[in-house]
Amino acid sequence: MKIKVSKENIGNIDTDALVVNLFEGDKKPAGATGEVDKLLDGTISQLIQEDEITGKKNEVTLIHTLNKMPASRVMVVGLGEKAKFSSEVLRQVMGTAARRLRSVNVKRIASIAHGAGIGGMEATVSAQTIAEGALLGLYKFDKYKTLLNNRSSIDELAIVEQDDSKISLLKAGVNKGQIVAEATNFARDLGNEPANILTPTELANRAEKMAKRVGLEYESLDRKQMEKLGMGALLAVAAGSNRPPKFIILKYIGDPRNEDNNLALCGKGITFDSGGISIKPAEGMGAMKGDMAGGASVIGAMMAIAQIKPKINVMGIVPATENMSGGSAFHPGDVVRTMLGKTFEIISTDAEGRMVLADALSYAIEHKQKRLVDVATLTGAASVALGNLAAAIMGNDQSLINHIIYAGENSGERFWQLPMWEEYREQIVSDIADIKNSGGRAAGTIAGGYFIQEFTEGVPWAHLDIAALARTDRERGYTVKGHTGFPVRTLVRLAENLASVK
Ligand code: BES
Ligand code: MN
Ligand code: ZN
Repeated sequence: MKIKVSKENIGNIDTDALVVNLFEGDKKPAGATGEVDKLLDGTISQLIQEDEITGKKNEVTLIHTLNKMPASRVMVVGLGEKAKFSSEVLRQVMGTAARRLRSVNVKRIASIAHGAGIGGMEATVSAQTIAEGALLGLYKFDKYKTLLNNRSSIDELAIVEQDDSKISLLKAGVNKGQIVAEATNFARDLGNEPANILTPTELANRAEKMAKRVGLEYESLDRKQMEKLGMGALLAVAAGSNRPPKFIILKYIGDPRNEDNNLALCGKGITFDSGGISIKPAEGMGAMKGDMAGGASVIGAMMAIAQIKPKINVMGIVPATENMSGGSAFHPGDVVRTMLGKTFEIISTDAEGRMVLADALSYAIEHKQKRLVDVATLTGAASVALGNLAAAIMGNDQSLINHIIYAGENSGERFWQLPMWEEYREQIVSDIADIKNSGGRAAGTIAGGYFIQEFTEGVPWAHLDIAALARTDRERGYTVKGHTGFPVRTLVRLAENLASVK
């Protein structure tokens, strides 16, 4: 889908469907919606009167214009209560609207810059959000459906604006929205791809190809190089699989010669998590093809950062391997030595995410990273604690945590902080090694975070447990069934915000 900004009067725009809006409770359409209402001889007013249009969030009403204006259809979208309006509402609404229009085979959409008038939203933000909502909402993963005949798609989205002074702002917003949404959809593709296709090697290949396209530095380590570095934790997880592990590194240099401005994003890259010898129940195990979603979000974020070019250095690190139960697999009871030199005891081979991240953080610190953020589908307990409304966030640096929560608020991605009281450490003390890889059922998400913290060496660090948000079973707003790309938008905004703080 091509997205553009058109300087045009909405009464003249030639399109298959023009999208206007209504806030909940408004009885008289105002602004652009009012203009369209006049051209349609009061049809919208009448539908409001008859309670068919209420303005409720995500309500969509399609009206055929029957040659009363060049646009062949008008869609009125509900923006919900004016007091609760936000970019997240608009993103949801645009996703719903775009999917509905595709379902009736519309090819060209035009939309006003929702919120930029009465809603009080900046024009740039409105355009970025509209682009994101539509591109994310229209996402499909149907490459393996050979019998599909209905492949309808929308070719063009035009944001229509008469005011000359807003055009360049809207264009900048569209550009940013497009970059961020495409990067998110790239991450979604990686998550949705089955594990027989997306092996660690294939994940590395796709990261490399993307890096070439957007101008990122790329490097990957193979098993031999990991052995040399002493990445015993990552290698233990990889031991039970015939598919070789890959340690993927992407580098964006936006502030050369300023090491203090280094940010590392480390994403869990388990391309399939069977649980290993501590094998998972059969039911639902297929979802563990997506246990590299944290890594995918890091790769997606790097793709966007390379194009937005903030003044910061970002290193994306993805330790990628399967967790299988082959003949050379690691066992419960094993003791493993990490790159940092610490040892830990394996309580469960299913607590593998924290293991690969331990070595990833050591690599990051050795490569002069000054702020560490890890992203992982780490614990089922995260969804017990917070459901699928928010990801869990923990760390050792409140300022970094606050930056992430704030970046999330502005991206429509929620994070909720869990405590890291030092008494939790007792849960991961081992009888025979420095620590152990599972702390039992109590506070499972925190214990996971605590294990990872052992490898941060006091460097500012935040841990994002996205186990409950990486994937969804329902279509809603701009998310569709399958992988969500969470939290690409937050990571990109974090890099931008940290870049401007100096
Ligand atoms: N990848 C899983 C966590 C997970 C579960 C992600 C459900 C998404 C949906 C992780 O490797 C795991 O198995 N965690 C264990 C930890 C336990 C053994 C300490 C868990 O959550 O049970
Ligand atoms: Mn596991
Ligand atoms: Zn896992």
